[in-house]
Amino acid sequence: MITKTILALESSCDETSVSVVQGRFDSSSPNELPTAVRVLAHFVESQTVHLAFGGVVPEVAARDHLVKITPLAMACISHSGIDPDNLDGIAVTMGPGLIGALMVGSLFAQGLALALNKPLLGINHVDAHLAPALLLNRFNPDADIQQWIEVANVEYPALALTVSGGHCHLSLLKSPVDRTILGHTADDACGEAFDKVAKLLGLPYPGGPHLETLARQSHAQNQSFKFTSTLADKTNRHGFSYSGLKTQVLDAVRRQLGHPQGRIDGSKLPPETKANIAAAFQDAAIGQLADRLHNALSDHPDVRSILVAGGVAANSAFREKINKFDKLQIRFAPLSLCSDNATMIGLHALLPGAQLSSHHPFSRYSYPS
Ligand code: KG4
Ligand code: ZN
Repeated sequence: MITKTILALESSCDETSVSVVQGRFDSSSPNELPTAVRVLAHFVESQTVHLAFGGVVPEVAARDHLVKITPLAMACISHSGIDPDNLDGIAVTMGPGLIGALMVGSLFAQGLALALNKPLLGINHVDAHLAPALLLNRFNPDADIQQWIEVANVEYPALALTVSGGHCHLSLLKSPVDRTILGHTADDACGEAFDKVAKLLGLPYPGGPHLETLARQSHAQNQSFKFTSTLADKTNRHGFSYSGLKTQVLDAVRRQLGHPQGRIDGSKLPPETKANIAAAFQDAAIGQLADRLHNALSDHPDVRSILVAGGVAANSAFREKINKFDKLQIRFAPLSLCSDNATMIGLHALLPGAQLSSHHPFSRYSYPS
């Protein structure tokens, strides 16, 4: 039995996060998938400095990461109980993300790797979102810290949907590391659309969870609003687009307020109207995700499972809809690992092919086209 211990850091947007994860491997196949993983420490600090702005301000995010990353890393290492000399490597998000925010995490990780003389691995954030869905069928930070969790088997080929505030990717996986991107968003990501519609309705940032709560207050039978969610390019069966849907919601809010142009304040609408708009938007937004999955399934009939990850994967209406896909293995990233966190970065570093390089993370980073 071989154990690998990774210190992982994430700072691509508005979460400063540090984790220590371990993977257990058969000594005969140390370059295969781990047979079990455990999270020794999982620290996530969501930045609240952006609340006043109603969205993430990149420069403010970078400065906040700078303040938080050192104490958070120290606390995480101490909480994990590991001796830093026993680390097998340091994994850090190299992108995509906000450049200033990424630089704080990656330069901190490079400094630490040099000081500890440990290998460093630059991780692609979008790929890493999937790692919890690939490796863990549960993870509750209150109950599962320090517990070994057997790696559950995923049936391949698999479709993987990564839906968050910055990404909306559909890919086909022949194995945990053989990934082909089938489609991505032409404009906004799905979570970004949730956030912008939420803001329009006067909800706080990040709007996704608030919008979901508001949508639940709508009487589902009430069809007073109906939004469509189609791509301009109908030949693109696996791509996504959310800007048109956003504009439809904006138009509806303007109509309700009787304010065809200029600045508007959707928070002034009656509560029932806001709830109905939220429900109709959510329906169209997750309907588009389900529609692209249906297309991909009919184009790839040999697919045996669906993996879903990213912040929007926390949406319960979305989970319900995907769970209705029959005769397929459905694997969601555990709720606590849907939004940005360093544990997913550490788990990705345990996947085959993610050999730790020596201090040259930039040369190892490439973004899937
Ligand atoms: O994965 P993530 O933390 O960040 C990115 O990599 O972008 O995802 C954050 C996004 C935000 O847009 C947030 O509003 C959305 O995920 N989100 C949700 C829910 N929880 C988070 N969207 C819809 N319903 C939710 N319950
Ligand atoms: Zn993310």
